[in-house]
Amino acid sequence: MNSSTNQVYPVIWHNNAVSLIDQNRLPNEYTFVEISRSEDMAKAIKTMIVRGAPAIGVAAAYGMYIGAREIDTNDRNCFLERLEEIAQMLRDTRPTAVNLFWTISRMMKTAYETLGTVEEIKTSLFHIAQSINAEDLQTCQVIGANGLKVLPKTPNKLRLLTHCNAGALATAGYGTALGVIRSAWSDKRLAMVYADETRPRLQGAKLTAWECVQEGIPVTIITDSMAAHCMKQGFIDAVVVGADRIAANGDVANKIGTYSLALVAAAHNLPFFVAAPLSTVDFSLSEGSQIAIEERHPVEIYNMGNIIVTPKGAKFYNPSFDVTPANLISAIITEKGAFPPEELQYYKEEK
Ligand code: MRU
Repeated sequence: MNSSTNQVYPVIWHNNAVSLIDQNRLPNEYTFVEISRSEDMAKAIKTMIVRGAPAIGVAAAYGMYIGAREIDTNDRNCFLERLEEIAQMLRDTRPTAVNLFWTISRMMKTAYETLGTVEEIKTSLFHIAQSINAEDLQTCQVIGANGLKVLPKTPNKLRLLTHCNAGALATAGYGTALGVIRSAWSDKRLAMVYADETRPRLQGAKLTAWECVQEGIPVTIITDSMAAHCMKQGFIDAVVVGADRIAANGDVANKIGTYSLALVAAAHNLPFFVAAPLSTVDFSLSEGSQIAIEERHPVEIYNMGNIIVTPKGAKFYNPSFDVTPANLISAIITEKGAFPPEELQYYKEEK
């Protein structure tokens, strides 16, 4: 965190290595893990030291660079072959968020297109990783500003519900859904953030709430099952969430629980917004059912802290994401503007 501005940067290039905020230790400990080997970066993504679609994309880009640095050859073909293996190791970490695959492709493309020595390719890879990081930060700030244009105009200040963590921690900084919320706060239009705790890993309770508290943004944590009740009570004006992968038809994969939130928002006539950079759109998939959904270890369900809370003999199902159909989404808020999901197709060339 930059102490003078309270800005949170989850992935920082520092002292010739990558510093990651250890998101598994928040909110109780604000610590960094230093990564200087590509294998450790793959582990950090898999174990969710770094998580959130754009943030893992940025982390993987640096992972590619540090991986390139490890390759000890001057032979271009040999270097590219080895780099492909590192790319595959990083791709194999988490399947759903497309940003991971997108940044790795960008890095590979740079490697193939840089004519010159292996050392020159390594230098280009470093510059691209730095630009991916900087671009994401800037993109999130624009998404935040674009979100302000579609948030409902209410007589009183807004009460916005969000799910998981789509904040600075999940991006290069600032955030997507939480970027929109931050912009509403700076614009003095926000009264309260309702943060779904987000079972099973509690990204809402631990991370979104932590980010809000750092900045003095009023935040109320609710359990996921309370969202419908809060809407019925008239506590919520709109829902804003992030995305891990958006299909060409506007179906959105995001943290498990997002789909039920969209259904209850529709039942209460509340706008449901998805904030995401265009890098989260996968135009190669025509609809959401084609998105690979990560299944994680059941320990996330049966353990609370270190205590097993379920009976022996039960089975578990732990999908980490779900898909919200486009027809439940009021608008997708991107760096190119906010528009209904069916208009996504017009932005294919912009990606
Ligand atoms: O499993 P996680 O914590 O990586 O899941 C994160 C989410 O689902 C976020 O909502 C999404 O990545 C958007 S982040 C700007």
